[in-house]
Amino acid sequence: MRYLTFALTKGRLADKTLNLLEQVGITCEEMRDKNTRKLIFVNEELKLKFFLAKGPDVPTYVEYGAADIGVVGKDTILEENRKLYEVMDLGFGACRMCVCGPESARGYLETNQLIRVATKYPNIAKDYFYNKKQQTVEIIKLNGSIELAPIVGLSEVIVDIVETGGTLRENGLNVLAEVCPLSARMVVNQVSMKMENQRIRELITKLRTVI
Ligand code: PRP
Repeated sequence: MRYLTFALTKGRLADKTLNLLEQVGITCEEMRDKNTRKLIFVNEELKLKFFLAKGPDVPTYVEYGAADIGVVGKDTILEENRKLYEVMDLGFGACRMCVCGPESARGYLETNQLIRVATKYPNIAKDYFYNKKQQTVEIIKLNGSIELAPIVGLSEVIVDIVETGGTLRENGLNVLAEVCPLSARMVVNQVSMKMENQRIRELITKLRTVI
């Protein structure tokens, strides 16, 4: 039997993913060790391999078949637009992609004005404003702390993830429109889905019983 390889998203999603896998009897204790510099972990008994990667790289590993299976946020799947199968909503990591800004910016959205939109997700922002809303905007790509942009005058609004809404509240910003709901998803390489169909189907069936 060949190894099935999982690419997991580093950070917030990783622990939740390991908890979920544990519930269906798939363990990888080594991976819980926060101090390890090891990159790849093996469960010899079940013939599984696991590695952690930055979110945006997970769909890349899965498209190229370096990983058979990935666990990644829907935001990253939409942004990266890779060729893969999204097979399952894992339920955790639930949040929303939203257009946010100060209340004073609401009018710019209602009247489709040419505004600046700061975001870590330029493709999602473009799709929302150009295709869905048909509003011409200037997209400014940032890499984090997106909420800063409207506060310091870099942009009128942002497109960003809202989970509890705490970051917005503490910075005097509001949700002005919802783009889409998000959560962690399981994705599968298109060739692996055919070659390892039985093993992957079994895994999905097991996961369904605990979600
Ligand atoms: C995310 C997101 C928001 C925040 C939302 O940022 O970009 O800033 O979490 O969560 P909340 O609604 O519960 O406050 P993250 O902490 O991942 O870091 P980043 O700003 O570097 O992207």
